[in-house]
Amino acid sequence: LNNGLARTPQMGWNSWNFFACNINETVIKETADALVSTGLAELGYVYVNIDDCWSSLKRNSEGQLVPDPKTFPSGIKALADYIHAKGLKLGIYSDAGVSTCQVRPGSLYHENDDAKLFASWDLDYLKYDNCYNLGIEPKKRYPPMRDALNETGRTIFYSICEWGVDDPALWAGKIGNSWRTTDDINDTWASMTTIADLNDKWAAYAGPGGWNDPDMLEVGNGGMTFEEYRAHFSIWALMKAPLLIGCDVRSITAETLELLSNKEVIAVNQDPLGVQGRKVHVSGPDGCEQVWAGPLSGHRVVVALWNRCSNATAITVNWEVIGLQSSARASVRDLWQHKDVVGDAVSSFSARVDAHDSHLYIFTPHTESLFKNLVQSE
Ligand code: GLA
Repeated sequence: LNNGLARTPQMGWNSWNFFACNINETVIKETADALVSTGLAELGYVYVNIDDCWSSLKRNSEGQLVPDPKTFPSGIKALADYIHAKGLKLGIYSDAGVSTCQVRPGSLYHENDDAKLFASWDLDYLKYDNCYNLGIEPKKRYPPMRDALNETGRTIFYSICEWGVDDPALWAGKIGNSWRTTDDINDTWASMTTIADLNDKWAAYAGPGGWNDPDMLEVGNGGMTFEEYRAHFSIWALMKAPLLIGCDVRSITAETLELLSNKEVIAVNQDPLGVQGRKVHVSGPDGCEQVWAGPLSGHRVVVALWNRCSNATAITVNWEVIGLQSSARASVRDLWQHKDVVGDAVSSFSARVDAHDSHLYIFTPHTESLFKNLVQSE
């Protein structure tokens, strides 16, 4: 969507994966405080997004949505002021149906009123879900909210949460700033790997202004190992997925913070070229030795060696699968070790990767190799 936002994938936090419906204004404020005190905000995690369950069960007598008076007694505008004073942005949630998934009022046929209300609360982001949609096509239900948000005059990030049911990558580029490509993630290796594969299919449709959304991060929620979370974060960064933290930042561990704070990995996600990396090669039993890669600005290439097998194994990437001439020389930097591991690799690169772990590298072709490519392609 050409509204000036999402030139790179959105970064921030969302309440759903950890808190589900157990949210209140204190949790949201304390999370904002924690994003700042941990340094995550400074690294780019600026959207603080309230998910389902913020609203009362019924609209008021004027037909307006009302924050639940028990959990958000100060109202959403006051919360937005608090969040903005910290240099962060506040997001909210509604649904392109008659009810949200947790059966709060939805915005279908209330798009203009609700968009105006969200703008009057100074909100910066709307996640728009797909429950209770009366069987009406998503292509008909999602544009009215885009237009309503646009008419408010406030620039509001529009996140389409259609779960990939009607292949939104094919039509949502002019409607939203991101679109979910899959059903909900859960905090397991099986869910995370399945979702990565499903999202991969739509790589060609992502770019500045609109991104495929394989759902929010589970890093730090306890259901996966450190290596599995490292793979989750590496692949989400490489796939140009939204980086929306889904754990309780107020009690974040040093390990989780180390993963989410890796500046070099974040820079891959936020690279200005904005091309979604994809699965480019598989080998080994059931294809469990995987290479994922994509172009970055400056003729660089990001490469993940992802071991989805149950034992440690060596994985090799050959130049041709990542678009380099086999004679090209490249330097290789390991983004998790923060080290240049090889100064001039030619034709292939291998590393031993622990079970379920992913290494992430940037390959920088030497200038003379680039020059050779140019001459040969002329
Ligand atoms: C759906 C969405 C989730 C979350 C819940 C809230 O399942 O896909 O991301 O927003 O609704 O009820």
